[in-house]
Amino acid sequence: MIEDSLSAAAVTDGLSTRFIGHEVICYPSLPSTNDVAKSRAGKGAKEGTVIVAEEQTAGRGRIKRRWLSPPGSIALSIILYPPLDYLPSLIMVASLAVAHSIEQVTGMKAQIKWPNDVLVNGKKVCGILVESDVRGDKVDYAVIGIGINVNLEVSDFPRIAPLATSLSRELGREVSRRELVQSLLAQVEKLYLALADGDSVFKQWRDRLVTLGKKVQVSSGDASYQGIAESVAPDGSLLLRQPDGSLLKIVAGDVTLRQ
Ligand code: BTN
Repeated sequence: MIEDSLSAAAVTDGLSTRFIGHEVICYPSLPSTNDVAKSRAGKGAKEGTVIVAEEQTAGRGRIKRRWLSPPGSIALSIILYPPLDYLPSLIMVASLAVAHSIEQVTGMKAQIKWPNDVLVNGKKVCGILVESDVRGDKVDYAVIGIGINVNLEVSDFPRIAPLATSLSRELGREVSRRELVQSLLAQVEKLYLALADGDSVFKQWRDRLVTLGKKVQVSSGDASYQGIAESVAPDGSLLLRQPDGSLLKIVAGDVTLRQ
């Protein structure tokens, strides 16, 4: 195995960002980096502070699911204080940043499955959980939580093996988590700053979605819908063309691509 610990110095040395990752706090093991990030944000942590864990024991996923983060994976959370109108774009920033950094560090092509799963060779390598606290029209904080299967043998984890993969499995060799985290933080910052310049982030995200134009099944809450994933709206919603011709706007859900 390559020597690849994620100490604060390993992450910050040579990092070329303006504010993201200037403060990095690393833990050998944590229940969830998002929980620690939210608690620190509530106490006024600096914008761009990053919480990293070598492993999570109670990692949380979207829709109240669990997220596995054994050693060899990346689990980190970034604290931000964005304006309210940035909130819907944070999943776009995060998923694009992950896709760009995977491509930069491994040379493999990465795709995004709506809303923010990152896939390599059609299988999930990354999950993103954005959480925020909003009071009135002010965002108290937002936390972008990112989990990436980097150097893992997914067959050791039967619960995720059918739909998930890892970068090492797809590449056939281990990947430097340090390089990947540094690239990821730089990409998150670049895209986050680009939110001030109109809809370029939205367009990049839309153009990378593997979901569009495909027959899909979408579960959203207790409901399930089928149709063609026709487009997405600037607020991140999926626009589903149903068999009766109507267009349904889905704000949150889980997509399965159908043949
Ligand atoms: C999903 O695909 O359901 C989202 C998974 C998000 C996992 C990351 S790992 C870092 C951060 N801490 C958590 O507890 N969850 C997110």
